[in-house]
Amino acid sequence: MRLTETADVWWKNAVVYCLDIETYFDTDGDGRGDIRGLSQRIDHLAELGVTCLWLMPFYPTPDRDDGYDITDFYGVDPRLGTHGDLVELITLAQDRGIRVIADLVVNHTSDQHPWFKSARASRTSPYRDWYVWRDEPPANQHEGIVFPDQEDSLWEYDEEAGQYYLHQFYKHQPDLDIANPAVREEILKIIGFWLRLGLSGFRVDAVPFLLDTAGATDAANLADPHDYLRDLRAFLSRRDGQAVLLGEVNLSYKDTRTFFGDEDGDELNMCFDFIGMQKMYLSLARQDPAELVKALRERPAPPEEAQWGTFVRNHDELTLDKLTKDERQEVFDAFGPDEDMQLYGRGLRRRLPPMLGNDQARIKMVYSLLFSLPGTPVLFYGEEIGMGENLAAEGRNAVRTPMQWTTGPTGGFSTADPGDLAGPVVEGDLSPEHVNVAAQRKDPDSLLSWIKLLAQRYRECPELSWGECTILEHDTPSVVAHRSDYEDGTIIALHNFSAEPAEITLVVAGSGVGVRVADLLTGATSDVENDGTLRHQVGPYGCCWLRVLRAGDRYLV
Ligand code: GLC
Repeated sequence: MRLTETADVWWKNAVVYCLDIETYFDTDGDGRGDIRGLSQRIDHLAELGVTCLWLMPFYPTPDRDDGYDITDFYGVDPRLGTHGDLVELITLAQDRGIRVIADLVVNHTSDQHPWFKSARASRTSPYRDWYVWRDEPPANQHEGIVFPDQEDSLWEYDEEAGQYYLHQFYKHQPDLDIANPAVREEILKIIGFWLRLGLSGFRVDAVPFLLDTAGATDAANLADPHDYLRDLRAFLSRRDGQAVLLGEVNLSYKDTRTFFGDEDGDELNMCFDFIGMQKMYLSLARQDPAELVKALRERPAPPEEAQWGTFVRNHDELTLDKLTKDERQEVFDAFGPDEDMQLYGRGLRRRLPPMLGNDQARIKMVYSLLFSLPGTPVLFYGEEIGMGENLAAEGRNAVRTPMQWTTGPTGGFSTADPGDLAGPVVEGDLSPEHVNVAAQRKDPDSLLSWIKLLAQRYRECPELSWGECTILEHDTPSVVAHRSDYEDGTIIALHNFSAEPAEITLVVAGSGVGVRVADLLTGATSDVENDGTLRHQVGPYGCCWLRVLRAGDRYLV
């Protein structure tokens, strides 16, 4: 049976939206967003066309890594709400056709987690072996540091424990040891718990780090760590056949492919496309899509039921770690020349609109590309209205500022004083005065209206997410042309990376007399010549999604 004849592989063409409850909408006036606030704003997401909401960590936390440092994997941080509030949120979301997934951060715990407190206190603690200990740090302790501004070793000596422990991220985030079967079992229980409460899966944090058992002295207990990822997926699917794992895997394409599992896809259902994202920025900086096209050609096809998660920005720095030093410098020069905009020597703590000088045509072109290329688009809150960053916030928090709902000093996020918010509001040209949901809802030309349109057209066109994608050859170097075919349907999308208008000539294979194309984003139609030649204008940073219409077609255009 064709997979689309069943409706359950929903993640193949979902619209995913990531947010942090803390910065979304505050209902109790304490300056921090809350679960009830998000519930009140669920219709904004429904209207936007979101079908899957990804919640950043909402668990109890000392908040030294924005909640990615957890002290209770089964809890809800009381500052955000209760389990009851969360179940109501999930119920409301599902009522609007939105599934909810959440971050699963089990590579490490907070050093304040009761497990770690017990582990460090005594060698006989039942939790001692849940972490990774050594009497001496290994020789490679200074290699592969994720946060080089704060850390210089992966191992930290703990006075109380009298040993060194492994922490691949901050030193306050000791790594759990998945070579220990008790840890593996506990992670399954955590998954089972949240599935029962109604989550539809997880965004799995730092997957390659989770599977890396190199530092563990008991690594032999788990000869192939991918066996564990397979177990985890099997458990998840057994408990809930529609639940998914969307993994954070920032490796080469070849290595990332292994995280989808075998040909049938028995590990992660989705992996983020970090390579395509980085090459897109290089292409934007060069006003030439050649590098992106190269990446798309090299990108391995995921297993039939799996999908790439595509994105423009996320909650972390815009990492450029897979580019060469010179390429990275090109992107820095174009989009983040000030040192203060750069982070860890590899990324930018910026959002897209300020990087592109708030050029609306160019921003719209980038999102059109996101929705039309194969993959499941993942948006970060605020992208739909073109929010900017606030560099006064520390590190990656520059892009985690309060959601801008209306004008006013807190952007309608909270009734608290602007100085008492979970993060500073964006200032300047992209402040709530100029960028907010309320104004853009009423404006058919706004970015918000554009993204709604893209989401709707994307959902209507199985060609884009299910189809066969071919990058078309032509003679206009500033334009990417890709064609997506599925059953009888064909869509050809054109994206111009240059500020100069372009004319493109393509051959529309398989066309005959009377064939036309209709732009799904504007409704404009034009004829394909009898020999199959299509000549099309693409404006400065222009884009179009052309549906090929043959006689007798009954497509809605
Ligand atoms: C992931 C998250 C990041 C976090 C880190 C440690 O990379 O995206 O925000 O700091 O893991 O959990």
